[in-house]
Amino acid sequence: MDSFEGKLAVVTGGGTGMGRELVIQLAAEGCSIATCDVNADNVGETAARAEKEAPPGVRVTTHLADVSDEAQMRRFRDEVAERHETDHIDLLFNNAGIGGGNSFLTGSRDAWDKTFAVDWGGVYNGMRAFTDMVVASDDAYVVNTSSVNGFWASLGPGIPHTAYSAAKFAVRGFTEALIEDFRVNAPNVKVAVVMPGHVGTDIVLNSREILGIDLEEARAQMARRGVATDGLSDDVVQNMMKMFGEMFRDNAPVTAEQAATIILDGVRAGKWRILVGEDAVTLDEAVRADPEAAYGEGGLNLSTITGQ
Ligand SMILES: NC(=O)c1ccc[n+]([C@@H]2O[C@H](COP(=O)([O-])OP(=O)(O)OC[C@H]3O[C@@H](n4cnc5c(N)ncnc54)[C@H](O)[C@@H]3O)[C@@H](O)[C@H]2O)c1
Repeated sequence: MDSFEGKLAVVTGGGTGMGRELVIQLAAEGCSIATCDVNADNVGETAARAEKEAPPGVRVTTHLADVSDEAQMRRFRDEVAERHETDHIDLLFNNAGIGGGNSFLTGSRDAWDKTFAVDWGGVYNGMRAFTDMVVASDDAYVVNTSSVNGFWASLGPGIPHTAYSAAKFAVRGFTEALIEDFRVNAPNVKVAVVMPGHVGTDIVLNSREILGIDLEEARAQMARRGVATDGLSDDVVQNMMKMFGEMFRDNAPVTAEQAATIILDGVRAGKWRILVGEDAVTLDEAVRADPEAAYGEGGLNLSTITGQ
């Protein structure tokens, strides 16, 4: 796909981060967009910013829909058809996601199940809801966001990361399998999987708001990172968690804006595999070169690779 001008894109999770930047950059290139989120204020601000940059004729519509709920995604699809007066879409970005569900053994089951439902279920429901509209386009692209945790199920030694990794592996596997499925059954549709490394977004802060803060798990996480929390009040622990979320956003090697540009360049270049950031490239090479060394004591460590 050489140009986004005159096309219609659906972006899930357009409220902040990479989803917001995708909406803004697509609109600036003359693409209309329908974007959903669970946060109405944030997605409203995304649309206002995108419309400011957009040439005349571009329409940005916002929708409240939880990607983990298939009925809400079907409603979102019907709203897109009605408000954009169309039977097809040209680009589908299944981008919405949250972080969480760290330990399968000791963490909360609710947080684990919710994380998996959003990160895997969101992509699955997005595909179920929008595949017919994508196939109805003459020239379409589906872009599913996985992660480096789609090929490496860890954040480093001592930090369990199970629900997110399981979901992101599922997204990568499903998306890679779809390449052949579309090539055989609907060759007008191309498919890409996005695997970002550390990108500076509000994902840590947003995920805590969605999942709630499990203070016991927060204290355990800090202990694993060598921060003693005995004697600290719950308020202090909450503030420290907020600070970690801000540091994640502010100290990343790649901004959300840069990440969105890399993703859109990948689509323009016809890629099926879009790595975002040098850390993602380095990790990909390391895991392929020596898979046995990826885990365990002395295993790969994202913070060593990013230098954060
Ligand atoms: N930031 C990173 O370092 C990083 C790395 C690898 C992969 N990713 C992935 O990139 C994608 C975008 O993340 P981001 O970093 O821009 O995060 P973000 O939190 O800034 O943006 C995600 C958006 O999705 C929305 N969202 C969350 N749950 C939702 C739901 N159930 N239904 C609809 N919308 C929902 C949030 O409200 C938010 O607006 C996610 O899939 C994430 O897992 C991020």
